[in-house]
Amino acid sequence: METVAIALPGRAYPIHVGQGILDRCELLLPYLRQAKVAIVTNTTVAPLYLQHLAQPLRDAGIDVVEIILPDGERFKNWQTLNTIFDVLLARCCERSTTMIALGGGVVGDMAGFAAACYQRGMPFIQMPTTLLAQVDSSIGGKTAINHPLGKNMIGAFYQPSLVLADIDVLNTLPDRELRAGLAEVIKNGLIRDLPFLDWLETNLERLLVREPQALEYAICRSCENKAEVVVADEHENGERALLNLGHTFGHAIETGMGYGEWLHGEAVAAGTMMAAELSRQLGWISAGDVERVENLFLRAGLPVFGPAMEVSRYLELMQHDKKVQSGKLRLVLFKQIGQAVVSDCAAQTEIAKAIAARSPHV
Ligand code: NAD
Ligand code: GLY
Repeated sequence: METVAIALPGRAYPIHVGQGILDRCELLLPYLRQAKVAIVTNTTVAPLYLQHLAQPLRDAGIDVVEIILPDGERFKNWQTLNTIFDVLLARCCERSTTMIALGGGVVGDMAGFAAACYQRGMPFIQMPTTLLAQVDSSIGGKTAINHPLGKNMIGAFYQPSLVLADIDVLNTLPDRELRAGLAEVIKNGLIRDLPFLDWLETNLERLLVREPQALEYAICRSCENKAEVVVADEHENGERALLNLGHTFGHAIETGMGYGEWLHGEAVAAGTMMAAELSRQLGWISAGDVERVENLFLRAGLPVFGPAMEVSRYLELMQHDKKVQSGKLRLVLFKQIGQAVVSDCAAQTEIAKAIAARSPHV
């Protein structure tokens, strides 16, 4: 087992990454403030893994409340969030009861937001079960639900006290979901870690066949990158925005196509290609650089073009981005491969041109 630390002053927590972690309830017990937990999961993950976690806890004398949500990005909303509060109240959960999120980013984001709000904050543990959640969404304290007009628009910063990432559970993840997770892994190399990008170019096939050593390395390296960024800028006043490479375009794709049609990682990959194309137009990177990014996404089985949607619709949806300041769009672009920047220097016409170059005409 490897451990990566999130060294936030006064709220530091470990991320444990390795095989067989789900069954090791001794890793979790020291973090409980009372002998009661509420596990939030969904209808897909529950039959696979809920009892692996719940039974050893019950055997250790812990009262376990199970909250099983419907599965899917389209359920990441107020209505589903409310069902979490309904059960917490009906089962008399207290401020000291620990909430555990067992699932992918959708479960983690919703459970985290519920934990931030319930009785103004209850302890929270993340047990991510998708690659995307293990490398990104379970770390750093961003929690949210979607609004029909914009992705992750309602939420809170709320850090977990522990993250437990069991690599073995990735064996049941559908291929499409594994690939979507790779988009966020590749993102780390693209924005700030060129040696990791080189490693990914050499070792991508080992990840695609789920070789445990390769997965553990890529997950830990991604967590280390994210840990550095989150500790430097927890509330995204600066550097943390770089983790949103491809996300302004990507969130427009997710919202515009209907939540769940495009997976988050797929939308991020296509959005990253739009950011790369725009950076090329600005003269910051070369056509060869764009091709390098495209090749890696293609090898990972990820889309390198967005869906057919009016360019004006892309631009309209992008105005809801959380990086918009005084009405001005700010985008994460490439100064060079391995070095991203946040920039507001691209004109609307240039942005439109990049979107058009990277999406089918409608
Ligand atoms: P997801 O949570 O929808 O999970 C993907 C699918 O895999 C679901 O059907 C799920 O039930 C299933 N699944 C989960 N674990 C499984 C397993 N081990 N075996 C078999 N099936 C399994 O999607 P995701 O990609 O994990 O997360 C995407 C979400 O994360 C988006 O809503 C995105 O906005 C959010 N996100 C948040 C952050 C953050 O910092 N908070 C960062 C990135 C993404
Ligand atoms: N996934 C972006 C962030 O955590 O900031």
